[in-house]
Amino acid sequence: MTQTFLLLPGDGIGPEVTREARRVLEIVAPDIEVSEGDFGGMSFDLHGTPLTDDVLARARSSDAILMGAVGGPQWANVPRDKRPEMGLLRLRKELDVYANLRPAFCFPALAEASSLKTHLVEGLDIMIVRELTSGVYFGQPKGIETMANGERRGFDNAQYTTSEIRRVAKVAFEIARGRVGKGGVYGGVVSTEKSNVMDSGLLWREEVTKLHVEEFSDVKLDHILSDALAMLLVKSPKDVNVILADNLFGDILSDEASQLTGSIGMLPSAALGEPGTPGLYEPVHGSAPDIAGQGKANPCAAILSVEMALRWSLDRSDAADRVWKAVDTALTKGARTADLGGSLSTTAMGDAVIAEL
Ligand code: IPM
Ligand code: MG
Repeated sequence: MTQTFLLLPGDGIGPEVTREARRVLEIVAPDIEVSEGDFGGMSFDLHGTPLTDDVLARARSSDAILMGAVGGPQWANVPRDKRPEMGLLRLRKELDVYANLRPAFCFPALAEASSLKTHLVEGLDIMIVRELTSGVYFGQPKGIETMANGERRGFDNAQYTTSEIRRVAKVAFEIARGRVGKGGVYGGVVSTEKSNVMDSGLLWREEVTKLHVEEFSDVKLDHILSDALAMLLVKSPKDVNVILADNLFGDILSDEASQLTGSIGMLPSAALGEPGTPGLYEPVHGSAPDIAGQGKANPCAAILSVEMALRWSLDRSDAADRVWKAVDTALTKGARTADLGGSLSTTAMGDAVIAEL
Protein backbone atom coordinates (compact mmCIF):
# COMPACT_ATOMS: atom_id res chain seq x y z
CA MET A 1 0.00 0.00 0.00
CA THR A 2 1.22 3.49 -0.80
CA GLN A 3 2.47 5.37 2.24
CA THR A 4 1.14 8.89 2.73
CA PHE A 5 2.86 11.92 4.18
CA LEU A 6 1.01 15.08 5.16
CA LEU A 7 2.90 18.37 5.27
CA LEU A 8 1.55 21.19 7.41
CA PRO A 9 3.93 24.09 6.66
CA GLY A 10 2.10 26.47 9.03
CA ASP A 11 3.39 29.92 9.93
CA GLY A 12 6.57 31.99 10.05
CA ILE A 13 9.57 30.07 8.75
CA GLY A 14 7.47 26.87 8.58
CA PRO A 15 6.79 27.05 4.82
CA GLU A 16 10.43 27.82 4.04
CA VAL A 17 11.92 24.95 6.00
CA THR A 18 9.29 22.36 5.08
CA ARG A 19 9.86 23.12 1.39
CA GLU A 20 13.45 21.88 1.77
CA ALA A 21 12.32 18.89 3.82
CA ARG A 22 9.85 17.94 1.09
CA ARG A 23 12.58 18.08 -1.56
CA VAL A 24 14.71 15.72 0.51
CA LEU A 25 11.79 13.35 1.13
CA GLU A 26 10.93 13.21 -2.56
CA ILE A 27 14.49 12.23 -3.41
CA VAL A 28 14.98 9.47 -0.84
CA ALA A 29 11.44 8.07 -0.96
CA PRO A 30 9.88 9.06 -4.30
CA ASP A 31 7.05 6.52 -3.98
CA ILE A 32 5.58 8.18 -0.88
CA GLU A 33 2.49 10.25 -1.60
CA VAL A 34 2.99 13.78 -0.24
CA SER A 35 0.21 16.31 0.22
CA GLU A 36 -0.10 19.63 2.05
CA GLY A 37 -2.68 21.16 4.36
CA ASP A 38 -3.43 24.50 6.00
CA PHE A 39 -2.50 24.74 9.66
CA GLY A 40 -1.97 27.25 12.44
CA GLY A 41 -2.41 30.99 12.04
CA MET A 42 -2.63 30.83 8.27
CA SER A 43 -5.48 28.32 8.60
CA PHE A 44 -7.21 30.66 11.04
CA ASP A 45 -6.92 33.47 8.49
CA LEU A 46 -8.36 31.30 5.73
CA HIS A 47 -10.90 29.16 7.59
CA GLY A 48 -11.44 30.77 10.99
CA THR A 49 -9.77 27.88 12.83
CA PRO A 50 -6.15 26.76 13.24
CA LEU A 51 -7.11 23.13 12.53
CA THR A 52 -10.01 22.26 10.24
CA ASP A 53 -11.89 18.97 10.48
CA ASP A 54 -10.71 18.19 6.97
CA VAL A 55 -7.02 18.56 7.85
CA LEU A 56 -7.53 16.58 11.05
CA ALA A 57 -9.17 13.74 9.09
CA ARG A 58 -6.32 13.77 6.57
CA ALA A 59 -3.79 13.71 9.42
CA ARG A 60 -5.50 10.69 10.96
CA SER A 61 -5.33 8.75 7.71
CA SER A 62 -1.67 9.61 6.95
CA ASP A 63 1.32 7.50 7.90
CA ALA A 64 3.29 10.54 9.02
CA ILE A 65 2.76 14.26 9.36
CA LEU A 66 5.40 17.01 9.29
CA MET A 67 4.40 20.26 10.94
CA GLY A 68 6.60 23.29 10.18
CA ALA A 69 5.83 25.87 12.86
CA VAL A 70 2.84 27.74 14.24
CA GLY A 71 2.17 31.15 15.68
CA GLY A 72 3.31 34.72 15.34
CA PRO A 73 2.59 38.19 16.72
CA GLN A 74 -0.24 38.81 14.24
CA TRP A 75 -2.40 36.26 16.07
CA ALA A 76 -1.67 37.51 19.58
CA ASN A 77 -5.17 38.90 20.00
CA VAL A 78 -7.08 36.02 18.44
CA PRO A 79 -9.48 34.35 20.94
CA ARG A 80 -7.58 31.84 23.03
CA ASP A 81 -9.26 28.72 21.66
CA LYS A 82 -8.51 29.82 18.09
CA ARG A 83 -4.83 30.61 18.65
CA PRO A 84 -2.40 28.82 16.29
CA GLU A 85 -0.83 27.02 19.29
CA MET A 86 -4.23 25.60 20.20
CA GLY A 87 -4.38 23.96 16.77
CA LEU A 88 -1.12 22.23 17.54
CA LEU A 89 -2.21 21.10 21.00
CA ARG A 90 -5.47 19.80 19.56
CA LEU A 91 -3.68 17.93 16.78
CA ARG A 92 -1.35 16.27 19.31
CA LYS A 93 -4.31 15.38 21.54
CA GLU A 94 -6.54 14.07 18.73
CA LEU A 95 -3.75 11.91 17.34
CA ASP A 96 -2.94 10.82 20.91
CA VAL A 97 0.79 11.16 20.20
CA TYR A 98 1.76 11.01 23.83
CA ALA A 99 5.49 10.30 23.52
CA ASN A 100 7.53 13.20 22.20
CA LEU A 101 11.05 12.20 21.27
CA ARG A 102 13.40 15.16 21.24
CA PRO A 103 16.97 14.18 20.54
CA ALA A 104 19.71 16.64 21.44
CA PHE A 105 22.84 15.62 19.60
CA CYS A 106 25.83 17.61 18.60
CA PHE A 107 27.10 17.10 15.06
CA PRO A 108 30.91 16.98 15.25
CA ALA A 109 31.23 19.93 12.89
CA LEU A 110 29.11 22.08 15.20
CA ALA A 111 30.73 21.41 18.57
CA GLU A 112 32.31 24.85 18.49
CA ALA A 113 28.99 26.58 17.76
CA SER A 114 27.66 25.72 21.22
CA SER A 115 27.62 28.39 23.89
CA LEU A 116 29.27 25.82 26.17
CA LYS A 117 32.93 24.81 26.09
CA THR A 118 33.59 22.43 23.20
CA HIS A 119 34.77 19.54 25.37
CA LEU A 120 31.47 19.58 27.27
CA VAL A 121 29.33 19.08 24.18
CA GLU A 122 31.53 17.22 21.70
CA GLY A 123 29.79 13.89 21.07
CA LEU A 124 26.71 14.92 23.04
CA ASP A 125 23.77 12.58 22.39
CA ILE A 126 20.72 12.89 24.63
CA MET A 127 17.19 11.69 24.00
CA ILE A 128 14.44 13.57 25.78
CA VAL A 129 11.14 11.71 26.04
CA ARG A 130 8.50 14.30 26.84
CA GLU A 131 4.90 13.45 27.69
CA LEU A 132 2.86 15.41 25.15
CA THR A 133 -0.87 15.00 25.60
CA SER A 134 -1.56 15.64 29.27
CA GLY A 135 -0.25 17.48 32.31
CA VAL A 136 -0.68 21.18 32.91
CA TYR A 137 -1.12 21.84 29.18
CA PHE A 138 -4.47 20.07 29.16
CA GLY A 139 -5.57 19.75 32.80
CA GLN A 140 -9.00 21.11 33.69
CA PRO A 141 -10.10 23.37 35.20
CA LYS A 142 -8.02 26.17 33.76
CA GLY A 143 -8.92 29.75 33.09
CA ILE A 144 -8.83 33.37 34.15
CA GLU A 145 -11.57 34.57 36.48
CA THR A 146 -12.44 37.75 38.30
CA MET A 147 -12.81 37.25 42.01
CA ALA A 148 -15.29 38.92 44.34
CA ASN A 149 -12.74 41.55 45.36
CA GLY A 150 -12.22 42.50 41.71
CA GLU A 151 -8.79 40.92 41.48
CA ARG A 152 -8.20 38.50 38.64
CA ARG A 153 -7.00 34.93 39.15
CA GLY A 154 -5.37 32.75 36.49
CA PHE A 155 -5.15 29.02 37.13
CA ASP A 156 -4.06 25.77 35.50
CA ASN A 157 -4.25 22.23 36.70
CA ALA A 158 -1.18 19.99 36.63
CA GLN A 159 -2.44 16.41 36.65
CA TYR A 160 -1.45 12.95 35.52
CA THR A 161 -3.04 9.52 35.74
CA THR A 162 -1.24 6.23 36.29
CA SER A 163 -1.77 5.04 32.72
CA GLU A 164 -0.59 8.35 31.23
CA ILE A 165 2.64 8.11 33.20
CA ARG A 166 3.21 4.41 32.55
CA ARG A 167 2.77 4.50 28.78
CA VAL A 168 5.28 7.29 28.23
CA ALA A 169 7.72 5.86 30.79
CA LYS A 170 7.60 2.56 28.90
CA VAL A 171 8.72 4.35 25.74
CA ALA A 172 11.64 5.94 27.60
CA PHE A 173 12.78 2.63 29.10
CA GLU A 174 12.55 0.87 25.74
CA ILE A 175 14.55 3.61 24.06
CA ALA A 176 17.19 3.36 26.80
CA ARG A 177 17.54 -0.37 26.09
CA GLY A 178 18.58 0.56 22.55
CA ARG A 179 21.07 3.18 23.74
CA VAL A 180 23.29 1.22 26.09
CA GLY A 181 26.68 2.86 26.63
CA LYS A 182 25.54 6.42 26.03
CA GLY A 183 25.64 9.01 28.79
CA GLY A 184 27.99 8.89 31.72
CA VAL A 185 27.02 8.88 35.38
CA TYR A 186 23.32 8.81 34.44
CA GLY A 187 23.59 6.34 31.57
CA GLY A 188 20.04 4.97 31.77
CA VAL A 189 16.80 6.86 32.20
CA VAL A 190 16.71 10.08 34.21
CA SER A 191 13.11 10.70 35.24
CA THR A 192 12.41 14.27 36.24
CA GLU A 193 9.64 16.10 38.11
CA LYS A 194 9.19 18.29 41.17
CA SER A 195 7.96 15.61 43.56
CA ASN A 196 9.24 17.75 46.42
CA VAL A 197 6.44 20.24 45.83
CA MET A 198 3.93 18.72 43.38
CA ASP A 199 1.61 15.78 43.98
CA SER A 200 1.38 15.03 40.27
CA GLY A 201 5.19 14.88 40.39
CA LEU A 202 5.11 12.53 43.34
CA LEU A 203 2.74 10.20 41.53
CA TRP A 204 5.03 10.42 38.49
CA ARG A 205 8.01 9.29 40.57
CA GLU A 206 6.09 6.46 42.22
CA GLU A 207 4.65 5.09 38.98
CA VAL A 208 7.95 5.27 37.12
CA THR A 209 9.65 3.46 40.00
CA LYS A 210 6.96 0.77 40.01
CA LEU A 211 7.15 0.18 36.27
CA HIS A 212 10.93 0.02 36.51
CA VAL A 213 10.80 -2.75 39.11
CA GLU A 214 8.11 -4.66 37.22
CA GLU A 215 9.48 -4.58 33.69
CA PHE A 216 12.72 -2.66 33.25
CA SER A 217 15.06 -3.45 36.11
CA ASP A 218 17.85 -4.05 33.56
CA VAL A 219 17.84 -0.30 32.76
CA LYS A 220 19.50 2.15 35.16
CA LEU A 221 16.96 4.60 36.59
CA ASP A 222 17.68 7.87 38.36
CA HIS A 223 15.25 10.51 39.59
CA ILE A 224 16.46 14.10 39.41
CA LEU A 225 14.31 17.09 40.33
CA SER A 226 13.74 19.29 37.29
CA ASP A 227 15.53 22.35 38.65
CA ALA A 228 18.60 20.27 39.46
CA LEU A 229 18.46 18.60 36.05
CA ALA A 230 18.34 22.00 34.35
CA MET A 231 21.60 22.75 36.14
CA LEU A 232 23.18 19.38 35.33
CA LEU A 233 22.42 19.90 31.65
CA VAL A 234 24.70 22.91 31.48
CA LYS A 235 27.27 21.53 33.92
CA SER A 236 27.96 18.09 32.46
CA PRO A 237 25.40 17.28 29.76
CA LYS A 238 27.28 14.21 28.54
CA ASP A 239 26.49 12.49 31.85
CA VAL A 240 22.89 12.09 30.68
CA ASN A 241 21.43 9.58 28.22
CA VAL A 242 17.59 9.40 28.22
CA ILE A 243 15.46 12.00 30.01
CA LEU A 244 11.84 11.22 30.86
CA ALA A 245 9.82 14.35 31.58
CA ASP A 246 6.24 15.54 31.78
CA ASN A 247 4.77 17.96 29.26
CA LEU A 248 5.87 21.25 30.86
CA PHE A 249 9.30 20.31 32.18
CA GLY A 250 9.98 18.46 28.92
CA ASP A 251 9.14 21.61 26.98
CA ILE A 252 11.59 23.69 28.99
CA LEU A 253 14.41 21.16 29.25
CA SER A 254 14.29 20.38 25.53
CA ASP A 255 14.82 24.03 24.65
CA GLU A 256 17.71 24.14 27.08
CA ALA A 257 19.23 20.94 25.68
CA SER A 258 18.86 22.18 22.12
CA GLN A 259 21.08 25.16 22.82
CA LEU A 260 23.86 22.80 23.91
CA THR A 261 24.03 21.44 20.39
CA GLY A 262 24.88 24.69 18.68
CA SER A 263 21.51 25.76 17.36
CA ILE A 264 17.85 25.02 17.89
CA GLY A 265 17.75 25.16 14.09
CA MET A 266 19.26 21.68 13.97
CA LEU A 267 16.86 19.70 16.12
CA PRO A 268 13.95 17.53 15.00
CA SER A 269 11.30 15.80 17.06
CA ALA A 270 8.88 12.93 16.76
CA ALA A 271 5.54 12.57 18.53
CA LEU A 272 4.37 8.99 18.66
CA GLY A 273 1.23 7.24 19.79
CA GLU A 274 0.43 3.56 19.81
CA PRO A 275 2.13 1.43 17.12
CA GLY A 276 0.33 1.65 13.79
CA THR A 277 -1.00 5.16 14.40
CA PRO A 278 0.40 8.19 12.54
CA GLY A 279 3.43 9.97 13.96
CA LEU A 280 3.65 13.75 14.12
CA TYR A 281 7.06 15.26 13.31
CA GLU A 282 8.08 18.80 14.16
CA PRO A 283 11.28 20.80 14.19
CA VAL A 284 11.87 21.85 17.81
CA HIS A 285 12.26 25.50 16.74
CA GLY A 286 9.28 27.80 16.53
CA SER A 287 7.99 30.06 13.78
CA ALA A 288 10.78 32.65 14.23
CA PRO A 289 8.72 35.63 13.02
CA ASP A 290 11.80 37.87 13.15
CA ILE A 291 13.40 36.06 10.19
CA ALA A 292 10.30 34.67 8.46
CA GLY A 293 10.11 35.19 4.72
CA GLN A 294 13.77 36.16 4.44
CA GLY A 295 15.10 32.80 3.29
CA LYS A 296 17.51 32.70 6.23
CA ALA A 297 16.10 29.90 8.36
CA ASN A 298 18.02 26.69 8.85
CA PRO A 299 16.07 23.83 7.21
CA CYS A 300 18.08 21.10 8.95
CA ALA A 301 15.61 20.59 11.83
CA ALA A 302 12.81 20.05 9.30
CA ILE A 303 15.00 17.80 7.15
CA LEU A 304 15.98 15.77 10.20
CA SER A 305 12.31 15.56 11.17
CA VAL A 306 11.79 13.80 7.85
CA GLU A 307 14.71 11.57 8.84
CA MET A 308 12.89 10.68 12.07
CA ALA A 309 9.64 10.04 10.18
CA LEU A 310 11.42 7.66 7.81
CA ARG A 311 12.80 5.80 10.80
CA TRP A 312 9.92 5.80 13.28
CA SER A 313 6.76 5.80 11.14
CA LEU A 314 7.66 4.71 7.63
CA ASP A 315 9.96 1.79 8.34
CA ARG A 316 12.70 3.08 6.04
CA SER A 317 15.82 3.20 8.13
CA ASP A 318 18.05 2.99 5.03
CA ALA A 319 16.59 6.20 3.64
CA ALA A 320 16.83 7.75 7.11
CA ASP A 321 20.52 6.85 7.32
CA ARG A 322 21.10 8.50 3.94
CA VAL A 323 19.48 11.73 5.11
CA TRP A 324 21.44 11.73 8.34
CA LYS A 325 24.75 11.21 6.56
CA ALA A 326 23.95 13.88 3.99
CA VAL A 327 23.33 16.48 6.71
CA ASP A 328 26.45 15.41 8.58
CA THR A 329 28.61 15.60 5.44
CA ALA A 330 27.18 18.94 4.34
CA LEU A 331 28.04 20.37 7.76
CA THR A 332 31.52 18.86 7.71
CA LYS A 333 32.12 20.49 4.33
CA GLY A 334 31.21 23.82 5.90
CA ALA A 335 27.58 24.41 4.92
CA ARG A 336 26.15 26.90 7.45
CA THR A 337 23.05 29.04 7.71
CA ALA A 338 23.14 32.25 9.75
CA ASP A 339 22.18 30.55 13.04
CA LEU A 340 25.34 28.43 12.65
CA GLY A 341 27.50 31.44 11.90
CA GLY A 342 27.33 31.12 8.12
CA SER A 343 25.52 32.90 5.34
CA LEU A 344 23.75 30.20 3.30
CA SER A 345 20.10 30.77 2.47
CA THR A 346 17.47 28.20 3.41
CA THR A 347 17.39 26.90 -0.16
CA ALA A 348 21.18 26.84 -0.47
CA MET A 349 21.40 24.81 2.74
CA GLY A 350 18.79 22.44 1.30
CA ASP A 351 20.88 22.23 -1.88
CA ALA A 352 24.00 21.43 0.15
CA VAL A 353 22.25 18.53 1.87
CA ILE A 354 20.70 17.28 -1.36
CA ALA A 355 24.11 17.36 -3.05
CA GLU A 356 25.24 14.70 -0.57
CA LEU A 357 22.31 12.33 -1.14
C1 IPM B 1 7.03 23.11 21.56
C2 IPM B 1 6.37 24.45 21.59
C3 IPM B 1 4.88 24.25 21.85
C4 IPM B 1 4.74 23.62 23.22
C5 IPM B 1 4.03 25.52 21.72
C6 IPM B 1 4.18 26.15 20.35
C7 IPM B 1 2.58 25.26 22.03
O1 IPM B 1 6.98 25.26 22.53
O2 IPM B 1 6.62 22.26 20.75
O3 IPM B 1 7.97 22.90 22.32
O4 IPM B 1 4.79 24.32 24.24
O5 IPM B 1 4.58 22.41 23.27
MG1 MG C 1 8.77 24.43 23.40
